[in-house]
Amino acid sequence: GLEACLFDLDGVLVDTAKYHFLAWKKLANSLGFDFSEQQNEQLKGISRVESLRKILSWGGLDIPQQRQNELASLKNSWYVDMIANMRHEDLLPGAVELLNELRSNHVKIALGSASKNAKLILDNTRLTPYFDALVDGNIVSQSKPDPAVFLKGAELLQVLPSACVVFEDAVAGVEAALRGNMKTIGIGDQRELAKAHLVVDDLTHIDLKTIQNLF
Ligand code: G6P
Ligand code: MG
Repeated sequence: GLEACLFDLDGVLVDTAKYHFLAWKKLANSLGFDFSEQQNEQLKGISRVESLRKILSWGGLDIPQQRQNELASLKNSWYVDMIANMRHEDLLPGAVELLNELRSNHVKIALGSASKNAKLILDNTRLTPYFDALVDGNIVSQSKPDPAVFLKGAELLQVLPSACVVFEDAVAGVEAALRGNMKTIGIGDQRELAKAHLVVDDLTHIDLKTIQNLF
């Protein structure tokens, strides 16, 4: 049965996916091209360097590594400015309610995010105390759909992957959870996230009972 919940951050607990999109779009535009919201789905859950690589390939640009590092830093500085004023009130609907219910029922909670800004966001939104383990882009370098970020979470929580449920808004994240032999709940578009065990619009549709019913 259920022992732990592993949460992606951007687009699941906080409304930051839109800021990643805006900052990448600004970068692409500064390089003379654009990309669609549909293409952006492929960037969700993907690390900063991998995202840049994909975007440059969409623009047909071949850029030396040194310059790529500068572009990635530039995008990050824009993104960090966008999230600087993020507060508890900016959490996505249902997030706090679900975390509270899980905690009071002794379900373990971990973060499984590719972001290197995860700690900053958790602190600003006062979510840090909810987590028994934090796995972010500073700890794991393999990008989703590699399951490493979630497997590390299960290991730190000392639970089996098969007793975990992963909450994800990214196609790559759902795939990572499945490769890790975990249950997964998709947050967002049913068509995009069709491989998940369950897909909902947001966390207001999820309570402990819904999660336990997956087992
Ligand atoms: C998450 C987001 C991605 C983002 C990645 C790295 O997975 O879904 O859009 O690119 O984290 O985030 P970072 O804050 O380190 O640039
Ligand atoms: Mg996400």
